[in-house]
Amino acid sequence: MTPHPPRVLVAGATGYLGGFVTRELKSRGHFVRALGRSPEKSSHLQDQVDEVVVGQVTTPTSLANVCQGIDVVFSSIGITRQKDGLTFKDVDYQGNLNLLEEAQRAGVKKFVYVSVLGGLHLRHLDIVAAHEDFVDELVASGVNYAAIRPTGYFSDMTEFFGMARRGRVWLVGPGQNRVNPIHGADLAVVCADAVTGEDREIDVGGPDVFTYRQIAELAFQSLDRPVKIVSIPARLARFFVAVTRVFNRHRGELLAFMVTAATSDIVAPSYGTHTLQAYFRECAQPGAAATGRF
Ligand SMILES: NC(=O)c1ccc[n+]([C@@H]2O[C@H](COP(=O)([O-])OP(=O)(O)OC[C@H]3O[C@@H](n4cnc5c(N)ncnc54)[C@H](OP(=O)(O)O)[C@@H]3O)[C@@H](O)[C@H]2O)c1
Repeated sequence: MTPHPPRVLVAGATGYLGGFVTRELKSRGHFVRALGRSPEKSSHLQDQVDEVVVGQVTTPTSLANVCQGIDVVFSSIGITRQKDGLTFKDVDYQGNLNLLEEAQRAGVKKFVYVSVLGGLHLRHLDIVAAHEDFVDELVASGVNYAAIRPTGYFSDMTEFFGMARRGRVWLVGPGQNRVNPIHGADLAVVCADAVTGEDREIDVGGPDVFTYRQIAELAFQSLDRPVKIVSIPARLARFFVAVTRVFNRHRGELLAFMVTAATSDIVAPSYGTHTLQAYFRECAQPGAAATGRF
């Protein structure tokens, strides 16, 4: 008799990656419980998973029993575009740590966590430090784990598409740094494999490597529009980041991460079949979701 696939709690199921992971796990026959932070934000998951539970990762007492009967916790919880007045440390680090402690109390066997590619070398940035400080806690916890470090998601490449639609793409520097972005559906396969697999440290990117300039050109091509690219000198962008940091630390740190990513090579072992060309073509369809985060 084959043992049943592990029962998984997905934290972050309301987000871009977590949504794909939820669907991938269900398609493999896992029991899936989704953790949402409020009934309103998670009600749409009712039809997609076996159970929905509500708990706020930044309030440990609200997490009581959310991991009961669960074998593996998957978490893609982290601040991306949320504007809740919380810091990366509050959510990406402390929120995930609260969840890990609850998982330990419930006897969960494994914790799969999504960090950021290059995390080990970019810890001077608040967002990366929060992710990697949590990975340190995970490693020290003694719970079996997998730390997945992806490149940029296609959902983030939508920023280039949005600028192209508005007529002009702004790049930091000449845009010659390289990245192999990954679609959420492809990354979800890697995440679901990590639920049952042995690998603990997993760097992953998409199938094709582009320069940022090529991504901008691709966005214009998908819209059938002439290419218009403006380069902002990297030094000017860093000055702007420093000024923003003084007035709004969180916003400054987010910008610092974006400028660092735009001026670094973000290339990881390639995986998946979804192409950015096809994704941008989808974004260009009439009626495509306003944010393009699909
Ligand atoms: N986007 C990229 O290119 C990229 C690349 C590498 C790594 N990552 C990392 O991958 C992870 C997932 O990214 P994503 O694009 O899927 O992000 P996303 O769509 O914004 O999803 C983030 C999830 O975290 C939850 N969350 C955020 N703030 C919260 C809070 N204060 N309390 C409770 N839950 C909260 C969100 O819940 P709500 O829906 O309720 O807001 C959502 O479920 C993040 O940690 C991100 O840093 C992203």
